[in-house]
Amino acid sequence: MSKRKGIILAGGTGSRLKPLTNAISKQLLPVYDKPMIYYPLTTLMFANIKDILIIVNKKDKETFKNLLKDGSQWGININYAIQEYPSGIAEAFIIGESFIGDDNVALILGDNLFHGHDLISMLRNTNNSTSGGKVFAYQVSNPEEYGIVIFDKHKNVTSIEEKPKYPKSKFAITGLYFYKNDVIKKAKDIKPSERGELEITSINQKYLDEKDLKVEIMGRGITWLDTGTFEGLNDASNYIRTLEKRQGLKIGCPEEVAWRLGWINKENLIQMANKMINSEYSKYLINIVNE
Ligand code: TTP
Repeated sequence: MSKRKGIILAGGTGSRLKPLTNAISKQLLPVYDKPMIYYPLTTLMFANIKDILIIVNKKDKETFKNLLKDGSQWGININYAIQEYPSGIAEAFIIGESFIGDDNVALILGDNLFHGHDLISMLRNTNNSTSGGKVFAYQVSNPEEYGIVIFDKHKNVTSIEEKPKYPKSKFAITGLYFYKNDVIKKAKDIKPSERGELEITSINQKYLDEKDLKVEIMGRGITWLDTGTFEGLNDASNYIRTLEKRQGLKIGCPEEVAWRLGWINKENLIQMANKMINSEYSKYLINIVNE
């Protein structure tokens, strides 16, 4: 079985969040108690993906590196690449070509936050699946604002539509995609859309044409939040705060995830906690190892 690498797409303009994003990338902004990118990063870690490429804007590369380093502190490998201009999500596979090599790949958007029941097993199973393309569907109240997916009872995708005026389904396609290695070739074959972007929908359409696009449904036990607007960002922070306060457990904490997966040991975790002494976050890390 081929290995799977992971890409976090964390460029873009963040135009809806200006002036917050005038000086800093959206994916570095806080979602309650941690930088936004920790959430998609831990989602890939839960899928058992250890080789990760982070695609960023040129001006923010050093800031991302200061935050995430080479990943070895969490038992993973983090690489960086620059997207010179936000010319579409599908460009990730062209930028990431040499990183992906001969492996399969999962792509997650750097502003997408997933959490909930059965998510980890869904991610693990998907990582091991052999379908050409796999997307994740999530029921939303405003499907006309998303790319939506229509599928049969065997989870085969029968059609996809981009922001339809009259949606035939309420299932939005989320910002998490699993593909076989041939996605690189597909990304090179597609043409920019009317808005001038290499669209992920065009990639999905190619897999659909080959009858090789599957869907996994994220049920109501799973939360999918988009943090791209002021309201979305604030909702996400409140959501994380509410759950963390109630349970005393953190969501999207890479130190904890790495430790629970056995990728780092207790001493590694304590060392990292000691570097953040005085913070609640540090106390939390010390507490979980002593439980
Ligand atoms: P969007 O939310 O579509 O775009 P954006 O982040 O630039 O924000 P806005 O719409 O407010 O201008 O992007 C979704 C994610 O994908 C986000 O994490 C940014 C990333 N992205 C890139 O890195 N490069 C791209 O070319 C595009 C289109 C998106």
